[in-house]
Amino acid sequence: MSGKDRVKVAVRVRPFSKREEDAGSRCVVSMGPNTTTIMDPRSQQVRTFTFDYSYWSHSGFLRNKEGLFVPEEPGGRYADQSSVFQDLGQAILENALQGYNATLLAYGQTGSGKSYSMVGYGPNKGLVPTLCERLFQAVKVNQDTCQFQVFFSMLEIYNEQVIDLLALGPRSGGGLKVREDQQRGFYVEGLRRVACKSGAQVERMMEQGTRTRTTAATHLNASSSRSHMLITLQLKQIFSKESITKESTINLVDLAGSERQRTSGSEADRLKEGTAINLSLTTLGNVISSLADAALGKRVVHIPYRDSVITKLLQPALGGNSRTIMVATLSPADMCYEESLSTLRYAERAKRIQNRAVVNESPTEHLLKELKAENAKLLTRLSRLADEGRQASSESKELRRLLTHNELQICAIQTLWEQHLQEALKDWELQYATMTQERRMIQTFPYILNVNEDPQLSGVVKLFIQEGEWNIGLSDSSPQTIAIKGLGIQEKHAAFTNLDRQVTITPVSQAKVTVNGSLISSRTELHHLDRLILGSNSTYLFIGFPLERNAEDWSRYDYDYFQSELAAAEGIHIHSLCSSSDGRGQPDPSLLAVFYDYIKLMPMVAEANQMSQELRKGVQFKLEIKNLAMSDSMGHDLEKEIAIRVTSEETKQVWVWSKAKFVNRKFLMEELYQQQVAEGAGSGWAPPPRDRDPFWDPLEPLHLGSAHLWLQSLAFRIRLEEQVEVLGPEGSEEAILQTQLVPCSPAGLPLGEDAILIDPTELLDKRQDFQLVLERCCGLRWLKEARDRGVQIGFRMYTLPQAFYAPSVWHNMNPVLDHRVQFTVMKTSQDFLNYLQTNALVLDLWGLQAGCADLTSSPESVMLTQEGSIVIDGAGAGDRVMPLPLDLSVSYQALQQELERMKIIIVSLRKENNVLREQLKGTKPSRRSERRGSLRPSCDAEFARALKVFYHSMTTIRGQLQKLRCNKPKDDADHADLTFFVEEQGRLLRDFGEQLEQSVTVLKQDVAAIVRKKREKSGIWSTSTS
Ligand SMILES: Nc1ncnc2c1ncn2[C@@H]1O[C@H](COP(=O)(O)OP(=O)(O)OP(=O)(O)O)[C@@H](O)[C@H]1O
Ligand SMILES: [Mg+2]
Repeated sequence: MSGKDRVKVAVRVRPFSKREEDAGSRCVVSMGPNTTTIMDPRSQQVRTFTFDYSYWSHSGFLRNKEGLFVPEEPGGRYADQSSVFQDLGQAILENALQGYNATLLAYGQTGSGKSYSMVGYGPNKGLVPTLCERLFQAVKVNQDTCQFQVFFSMLEIYNEQVIDLLALGPRSGGGLKVREDQQRGFYVEGLRRVACKSGAQVERMMEQGTRTRTTAATHLNASSSRSHMLITLQLKQIFSKESITKESTINLVDLAGSERQRTSGSEADRLKEGTAINLSLTTLGNVISSLADAALGKRVVHIPYRDSVITKLLQPALGGNSRTIMVATLSPADMCYEESLSTLRYAERAKRIQNRAVVNESPTEHLLKELKAENAKLLTRLSRLADEGRQASSESKELRRLLTHNELQICAIQTLWEQHLQEALKDWELQYATMTQERRMIQTFPYILNVNEDPQLSGVVKLFIQEGEWNIGLSDSSPQTIAIKGLGIQEKHAAFTNLDRQVTITPVSQAKVTVNGSLISSRTELHHLDRLILGSNSTYLFIGFPLERNAEDWSRYDYDYFQSELAAAEGIHIHSLCSSSDGRGQPDPSLLAVFYDYIKLMPMVAEANQMSQELRKGVQFKLEIKNLAMSDSMGHDLEKEIAIRVTSEETKQVWVWSKAKFVNRKFLMEELYQQQVAEGAGSGWAPPPRDRDPFWDPLEPLHLGSAHLWLQSLAFRIRLEEQVEVLGPEGSEEAILQTQLVPCSPAGLPLGEDAILIDPTELLDKRQDFQLVLERCCGLRWLKEARDRGVQIGFRMYTLPQAFYAPSVWHNMNPVLDHRVQFTVMKTSQDFLNYLQTNALVLDLWGLQAGCADLTSSPESVMLTQEGSIVIDGAGAGDRVMPLPLDLSVSYQALQQELERMKIIIVSLRKENNVLREQLKGTKPSRRSERRGSLRPSCDAEFARALKVFYHSMTTIRGQLQKLRCNKPKDDADHADLTFFVEEQGRLLRDFGEQLEQSVTVLKQDVAAIVRKKREKSGIWSTSTS
């Protein structure tokens, strides 16, 4: 009865989600009857995979009157729930009825449709409920020939802990144990199995399980998409006539979301996600890979079943005694391409796995048979003894004892099922009563309905607000209390009143209550479909009195809706954030992604803050939208990114985490929090050492902001003195930096005005030297917040790979930097000229805190000239360049400069001597002829210079104008704030006007001076004034 069974694999692609639609996603998945093709949205490269089944559930469907998603036209290509069941569910059912173990696994990224396929939503029932329904139909049809026994169990694996979703009593800490038995293999000790007689009963139990899952998730602040759900149906068929018993186990598994922590941030995290967060999923992947390798004939020494809970429990399903099907679910969107491809690759490996399924004969039935046979033997012997007249002998007594024992056992085995059924029936009656009562309450009272991040767990908990006054909070001892649990929920959190057909909510003292996105502090009336958030993140939809309810679609108030509303209250709105759209009303997809990241992270940040508070970690988390334009040398202003600012409340130390790092840390925080909750604060719970504490990190220099120093003046060899504004990632002014760009000689002497060029191409192929001078920093905001801090300026030049840093300066809001670096281009290329004309030097301001090391330049790879200047175009430097340690080179450079200065002084002294000598001799040199040669270039250069000065002051002025435009009063500004704002705006406007006037005046004066000079030189001026 045994054969080789390959694991069967199906792929299913779902419709676009609202987010994907909003983002204008493209579908990158296409399907043939058995093939699935995916296209890389960047390279357009396609990959095709072949599986046993491919289900196109992306398009070509409509919602019928019953709410079912069905093909638009009969026979259409859309694969609905029933056609998926027709193949997969039916196969599982048939296998089970034949006596094989059968397993159905759903694998895919979060939100890809695993639960939709397995459990389903509303009328669109998934594989599990339909399978149960059909199973009991089969039971009914065959009940004359066969006695069926069905046991149902439902568990969740979260963080390697097994949670019994059907348990009646309080949950045991640490979860249930997985044990191993020679005959049974791995099993969960103490797991509740419920005897079932109908599909409806199974559905009720699934509801009960989902409810437990929902409350467990809120109590422990655990995310359901990280947990695996395993439903097991144990089916026993007793064919009394044939005296055969077939037993099979059906495992139905909704796996945790498969996405990996791919983003770079977490790779850079000191604490790797590791621990046990996705151990089951990782191990499952390893088991599947090893088995796939084995199927390809590779030598596989070890299959790591024992490394995780899910692989222990699914051992028969993978490479063992089971007929197994995997459904791989895909998002169709281009933005999920990487994950979808990874799912397809996973499925590709899984389809190679060979199982060996056998029809199972129950050991219990063996025993029954054996017991019956033994009893028959005993009876024969007893009758023989009686015949021999030895009824009272000791042998006969022993035989009678054995006989009674065996009969008891037989009886026990037969009555066990009946007992189980009776128990289940009692339970069922109890549940039925609860359900009827709930239905009655729904029709009488207003209530709040839970809304969860996982849609599968939304709408599961209903808390009724009956007439009178009700407290809501942790305390479940007082009779007038609606008991809830969750992060940041207080003992007495808020009070509801339901009087005169009006419901109000009043927060208790410091408790956090948000209604429709706004934090409330006093009694507030609730209206039908108001959104309520209690504590950090317990989200509920308020359902008003039955009369107020229409046939509205409540599902639009999903988790995203709640979070978008909160974000909007904080001033982050999808339209404002994405305002730099392409002008066609279509928001920029990358900005949309930022928005969704923001609303995804918002509740996580609230939870992290609450955990920090409860675990007394003393750190605060805050979301920031970083403008990446800060680091773009072209000044492009589109890219944005989310970062999380972490501040120590006591020391004011600051860290900035990437999104991926925060998400990773949040998982670890949850784990810590759950441990603390399980083990009880204070009673023996030891916080982790600092190096394993997810709330802590060693201090690192912090990027405070950037300033742009435009390099254009260097293309004209014009010295530039500039005060640049260092802008923080959110646009705040972090400091003013006084800087200079000084064209100079190889030895570092500043070039005079005569060196100014009209045409930058004159620089082509020539050597060019210039110095960057960082003079001083003013008004450092970083120092305003705390004085025991320092700063450093860093920058990158052209294509040089390394960053350069000025020495750090500490404890001063307006520190003198006095830092000078010289750069050399040995042979100016067109590319370098372009760089100078279109780019800015991005000067990064880094914040230092006590205990964090300075940033250092890496001198090894720097090429220096003999004079000690840093070579920008190393390749063209030839043998005139030598590498020198940077600090040595700096002093060498200083000496060289000094020497050069001396030489020039000597030359000019000599010249002066000569002139004096000449004068003494009475011979006057012709100054006019001497100067004429330099007249034109000098005047043009002065023109160029004047224009540059004007241009630069206009840049500053333009910046000011921008600032004026962007300045807005706070949304919640009161009268005083507004007065202050108007005054401030007036001052800025005055400054702006003055600056503008001054720039124009300077330009006029400069031009007038140049004209005057020119006339003077040509003699016109002197004649007209004489
Ligand atoms: N084939 C489908 N047709 C219509 N809607 C679907 C389909 N598949 C999924 N959806 C919808 O997509 C959303 C996410 O699906 P689902 O809850 O099944 O994801 P999941 O893979 O279980 O995610 P998680 O890992 O978070 O549990 C749901 O709102 C669901 O209704
Ligand atoms: Mg799910």
